[in-house]
Amino acid sequence: STGPVIRAERSYVMIKPDGVQRGLVGEIITRFERKGFQLKGLKLFQTPEDLAKEHYKDLASKPFYGKLVDYIISGPVVAMIWEGDGVVASARKLIGATNPLAAEPGTIRGDFAVEVGRNVVHGSDSPENGEREIGLWFEETEVVEWTRDMTPWLK
Ligand code: PPS
Repeated sequence: STGPVIRAERSYVMIKPDGVQRGLVGEIITRFERKGFQLKGLKLFQTPEDLAKEHYKDLASKPFYGKLVDYIISGPVVAMIWEGDGVVASARKLIGATNPLAAEPGTIRGDFAVEVGRNVVHGSDSPENGEREIGLWFEETEVVEWTRDMTPWLK
């Protein structure tokens, strides 16, 4: 049949330059892995300025936009695609509140950050933005088709 393709929910999650420099890459990936989501794309990447501007274009009118772009291009990031039911909202919970001082302990920002301008990690804020951001940051050939078989313990 030729019905619409229904695909699993995906989030674009990015370890920002401070997270990479501070050696938090393994810690952050571990939290998503053990939660039970599936990694579908992963790369260490030096972000071109154009891409950083495009990624954050909805914030172009904010006073912090220039500093935010400079921060994101200041060093390599780890770009990731995580997939699973409810992954967008769940990733935001794992990451914690935007302002790290307001983020609960147990969240990534709650445990590892103090400044909004250096908040370690990004996660898409909707499934639609997840797809938009994955399209910006990944080539189709970099998205890996595989199945993580967690049955019978996890879906
Ligand atoms: S939220 O939770 O996405 O609705 O937060 P929002 O306030 O809209 O922030 C969107 C992104 O902008 C970053 N941000 C800032 N960066 C630097 N300085 C200041 N003051 C600041 N305020 C917000 C915030 O971390 C969000 O980035 P991402 O990468 O999406 O987390």
